[in-house]
Amino acid sequence: MDLMGEFIGAEQVPRSGTVERCGSQSTLLNLMGKFAIAEFARQIGESNMVYDYEWFKQKIYGLTEIDLGSYKERQMKRRIESLMRKNGYNDYEGYVDLVKDDQEKMEEFVRHITINVSEFYRNPNQWKVVEEKILPHLMEKRGRRLRIWSSACSNGEEPYTMIMMLHQKYPTILPYVELIATDVDRQALKKAKEGVYQERSLKNLPEDVKKRFFERVDGHSYQITDEVKSHVSFRWNNLLEDGYPDRIDLVLCRNVLIYFTEEAKRQIYQQFSEAQPMDGVLFIGSTEQIVQCEKYGYHSLGSFFYVKK
Ligand SMILES: C[S@@+](CC[C@H](N)C(=O)[O-])C[C@H]1O[C@@H](n2cnc3c(N)ncnc32)[C@H](O)[C@@H]1O
Repeated sequence: MDLMGEFIGAEQVPRSGTVERCGSQSTLLNLMGKFAIAEFARQIGESNMVYDYEWFKQKIYGLTEIDLGSYKERQMKRRIESLMRKNGYNDYEGYVDLVKDDQEKMEEFVRHITINVSEFYRNPNQWKVVEEKILPHLMEKRGRRLRIWSSACSNGEEPYTMIMMLHQKYPTILPYVELIATDVDRQALKKAKEGVYQERSLKNLPEDVKKRFFERVDGHSYQITDEVKSHVSFRWNNLLEDGYPDRIDLVLCRNVLIYFTEEAKRQIYQQFSEAQPMDGVLFIGSTEQIVQCEKYGYHSLGSFFYVKK
């Protein structure tokens, strides 16, 4: 089966070009330079909000290893400043003092900036494509020992959706599938491992799936079964800083790239490409699109899916 022919608008484009990688070392150097300017400005009493934000980013990087410089600035500042106000602060310095000594406030901060809204079978039509086209393609080209990576898995809805689908549609390959699920938010990973969900995040699930894979805990929450959980290996990983797992046949990276700067996105696409074998597939979110995907060795399969060539 030729997956390319299965999608409208798929075209053969030769692979060309590379993208410069910016690893954590250059991130750190970049931040340190700006931090020095901000610190100097503060000392001579020339502090303003721009310098303060540089200073704040450096402090947050030291505390969380999250480089705010790779997230879209206007959006991120708005979110941070609204959280600061909620906590009674209107200066970065006071707020940093708060979070550095208070674990709960630190977790609140990370949770607030990472935005972990998710749901099971989010965008059901796209999951239909995974079921009917992507998985058959991967099984044909890569065999049944598939390695799948949910790279910003939030509270676990996305990787668990994948396991439920495999369970229902391709049960014979499920024992051979390896599913790694990662996120930068430790609280989200904790929740994913617990596997307890509110009714609203199950809204796309057909009744039989709900019955088969969930047990009601109380009036409003459901626990996913241990059987589903046992197929997912959750780990902490920062897409902007850390190494990526290798030989990944299917990468899911949905609804997170929208928060990153163009430079950060380029770095991530390049790293995904390096992590994928020939015929591997990258699945991205509804509002996302890889401009000039051939630069990274991908061919577009219409919207949301890219195959490595
Ligand atoms: C809106 S959720 C998307 C969840 C799921 N992929 C979906 O589409 O429903 C975005 C997730 O990206 C994670 N995230 C943000 N920055 C990240 C980073 N640098 N590395 C890894 N995950 C990150 C957040 O913690 C959050 O759980």
